[in-house]
Amino acid sequence: MIPQSFIQDLLNRIDIVDVVGRHVQLKKAGANYQACCPFHDEKTPSFTVSPTKQFYHCFGCGAHGNAIGFVMAYGGLNYVEAIRDLAGSLGLAVPEEAGSRPEKASPDLSGIMQKATKYYREELKKSAAAIDYLKKRGLSGEIAAHFGIGYAPSDWRNLAKIFPDYDSEQLVEAGLVISGEGKRYDRFRDRIMFPILDARGRIIGFGGRVLGAGEPKYLNSPETPLFEKGRELYGLFQARRAIQDASKVLVVEGYMDVVALAQNGIHYAVATLGTATTPIHVQKLMRQSDHVFFCFDGDNAGRRAAWRALENSLSQLADGKDISFLFLPQGEDPDSFVRSRGRQAFEALLAEALPLSTFLVNELSAKANLNSEEGRARFLHEARPLISEVKAPNLGLMLRKRIAQIARIELAELEALFHVQPSRRSEKIPPRKSVGKKPDVVRKLLEMLMHSPALATLVDRGEIASQESVAGSGEAAALAKLLDFLAEEGAVGTAAIMEHFRGSAMDALLDEIRPGLFRLEEAGLNEEELEREFIDAWKQYQERLCRARMDRLLDAANSSGWTEAGKAEYLSLQQRLNLFQKSETGGEFRV
Ligand code: UTP
Ligand code: MN
Repeated sequence: MIPQSFIQDLLNRIDIVDVVGRHVQLKKAGANYQACCPFHDEKTPSFTVSPTKQFYHCFGCGAHGNAIGFVMAYGGLNYVEAIRDLAGSLGLAVPEEAGSRPEKASPDLSGIMQKATKYYREELKKSAAAIDYLKKRGLSGEIAAHFGIGYAPSDWRNLAKIFPDYDSEQLVEAGLVISGEGKRYDRFRDRIMFPILDARGRIIGFGGRVLGAGEPKYLNSPETPLFEKGRELYGLFQARRAIQDASKVLVVEGYMDVVALAQNGIHYAVATLGTATTPIHVQKLMRQSDHVFFCFDGDNAGRRAAWRALENSLSQLADGKDISFLFLPQGEDPDSFVRSRGRQAFEALLAEALPLSTFLVNELSAKANLNSEEGRARFLHEARPLISEVKAPNLGLMLRKRIAQIARIELAELEALFHVQPSRRSEKIPPRKSVGKKPDVVRKLLEMLMHSPALATLVDRGEIASQESVAGSGEAAALAKLLDFLAEEGAVGTAAIMEHFRGSAMDALLDEIRPGLFRLEEAGLNEEELEREFIDAWKQYQERLCRARMDRLLDAANSSGWTEAGKAEYLSLQQRLNLFQKSETGGEFRV
């Protein structure tokens, strides 16, 4: 655990323009900096870095965050690593909260992994059997070297030759040595070794394949301080360039699939590591490319795995990106297919991959009898939790339309059933009759506070808490939380606010607000104008709360008569409302 105070301090000291500028060529544009987005393919720059707000936002793909977020996304680091990285660039040591478990990932582990890889590679050159095996599988020496493939000999303590201190705990920690009942021996013996690299090219684990038959077929490194299976993708480091060039990334199931595809000229493939595809994987993949292809075997197991991947992709879908599914013929995997049929045949399959939406709708339709009401009800029942995961506004709408069509109901009926806000974000839909919706004032207050947190000192925090039950909306609650945080923390910056709410329920809301901050900045209001606008919005909000509460009291009085307390509250609200109206004509009034 790293103390929050240190993280906030770090964010205060660091300049995101430097951090991003180290990797991306930034150009000054007004108050901000711009570049072509490093997280998606684009020709005109929509990636914006704000020096005053200390965050970045891409108007093209929606990537965003503060300096910590950038280092995580760009460098593929986890949270703690990102903080270490940033602290290191300032020459700061990262303190640890008392009583916390020391972070175990020591720099030595990387060194150990590297040394082991080198050893395994040299052993491969000496082993005729291993070389023969790889040759039989169609691999050239060049490709084997490209992936750092090696061979672990069959003895029990091979690594003692290169690590004189074979008893060192670090070898166990690195997952290379197993210790138990007083014995110590190598984890990997008589296996072809596939090193697993992280996004920065550091070796973090191994997959080891038996040469012939034998169980398990693949032995993988255990989870270690360096290696977390659910995050990593085999081959990503080697594939990065090709992914950019091909503007697609292909996800397969096996080590050999990646290697064989590369051998046959398809260099943009990566593999999950014997685990189901996780949302973290999908997030990583969508950062690499706008077009993600999952490739699975054509059998039932493959379809099940594809469905898991689909479930874990839904929440990550974004308009402007697509995910497709490719199913190979029965009994084939990418390795066997590309070896027997070649690159062109494989890429022809890729061109016909099923878009996620089609796969989703097909599978759901196949599971229910759409000719009966009960069947279509069941279809809707199955569709609902899946569709609710989709946050991409346009694609979400398309999917709902399609589902409604198949269920033979109207879109509006489906949205009512699924409790979806009727497609408010899409402009192509004819406007609905609704109770004359003004641009929302709570949203505006949130935007302004995020933009200039010091505005919080202008308003009386007390009011809102007492009225919260009246408003009840998610945004009103968020506003209350934000004001609470600012009351406690005083003058913090935008990046610090984001950091505080990272991973909380408010995160998603703050995401939506972020583009508004740039609009505010472009509006270029001076401090006084900003304050005036904020106070106006605050008054409007208070007024709305007053009216809502008064309506509620009237309703109660209409159904069961006035109580003393009710009457008193109503009158005081009436007075307050009068005050608001007077203050509009100029009187000094603290809200
Ligand atoms: P497969 O069984 O499909 O193997 O496992 P493969 O990739 O086709 O391997 P070859 O062609 O026989 O050499 C797919 C992936 O599942 C994981 C590995 O990551 C493998 O690449 N796996 C499989 C294991 O982790 N352990 C196993 O015992 C088997
Ligand atoms: Mn295979």
